[in-house]
Amino acid sequence: MSGAAKVDRLERRVSSPQLQLSEPSSAVASASSSETARKLLIRVDAVDKEYATRSGDGVTALKGISLEIRENEFVTLVGPSGCGKSTVLKIIGGIIKATRGLVEFDGRPLEKPSREIGMVFQRPILLPWRSVLDNVLFPFEMMGRNVREHVDEARRLLDMVGLSGFENALPRELSGGMQQRVSICRALVYDPKLLLMDEPFGALDAMTREELGIELLRIWTERRKTVVFVTHSITEAVFLADRVIVMTPRPGKVVLDLRIDLPRPRTIDVEFTPEFKAYADAVRDAIYTGKRI
Ligand SMILES: Nc1ncnc2c1ncn2[C@@H]1O[C@H](COP(=O)(O)OP(=O)(O)O)[C@@H](O)[C@H]1O
Ligand SMILES: [Mg+2]
Repeated sequence: MSGAAKVDRLERRVSSPQLQLSEPSSAVASASSSETARKLLIRVDAVDKEYATRSGDGVTALKGISLEIRENEFVTLVGPSGCGKSTVLKIIGGIIKATRGLVEFDGRPLEKPSREIGMVFQRPILLPWRSVLDNVLFPFEMMGRNVREHVDEARRLLDMVGLSGFENALPRELSGGMQQRVSICRALVYDPKLLLMDEPFGALDAMTREELGIELLRIWTERRKTVVFVTHSITEAVFLADRVIVMTPRPGKVVLDLRIDLPRPRTIDVEFTPEFKAYADAVRDAIYTGKRI
């Protein structure tokens, strides 16, 4: 079944007037005028990714991925394990190259990692022998910059995520949630335009995960970042996003690009509303119908 036919079927199955389902390729065209007025930050056009394997066969991880993400958007990328979410994120981050297709960041072809892009991974990856503050400042050291000039900003960020008083602690003295807050501060310290997050709360317990989700939305509102957030949790994807992009595997492709028109600021209560449930059902449907191809 073609992507268009699938979305068409979804459209008929989801009756809530709140939902605006659009074909992946026409996502931007269907956005409201204020959104289309925002600057395009990322353009991914017809991207394929093939990985070489030891057996020599090669794996087609992505096939024909096209995405447009505008400044200040909070986009979540959801799909089952192995569908290529991390691959998309690494391509957008300039960490790996697409086999075919175009990737532009801020109007220019993306050739290598940029200072304007910050990344947060599932595991905090902190330097264990360094204090919390020194871990946050580490990117400046890597860039050969004067670290002292940025101490105030690092302290401000730590304060914002509730870690003031822990500046001199070592990572092992912190809980998993606190360590992940440190890595978020480290990604924000050089004020990147774009924050790429790959299942950043995946290793945390459910309560910490919810708490950090709300905190992330607050940071995003205060600092006006563009965020692309990968998750395999449908609830998390809908709760956080302006747009949920659903991918299905083998080869990874986009099957749904869904605008989430839930009011902000959001609290966990929103998850009990019929609108939220309708969005989550649409995402779930896209994942499962995509799987049955
Ligand atoms: N470095 C690699 N070499 C070979 N295959 C890879 C590599 N990275 C990912 N893959 C394959 O590409 C597909 C997509 O992987 P990935 O992007 O990690 O998916 P996800 O993040 O959605 O779980 C999977 O089939 C995976 O096995
Ligand atoms: Mg992954």
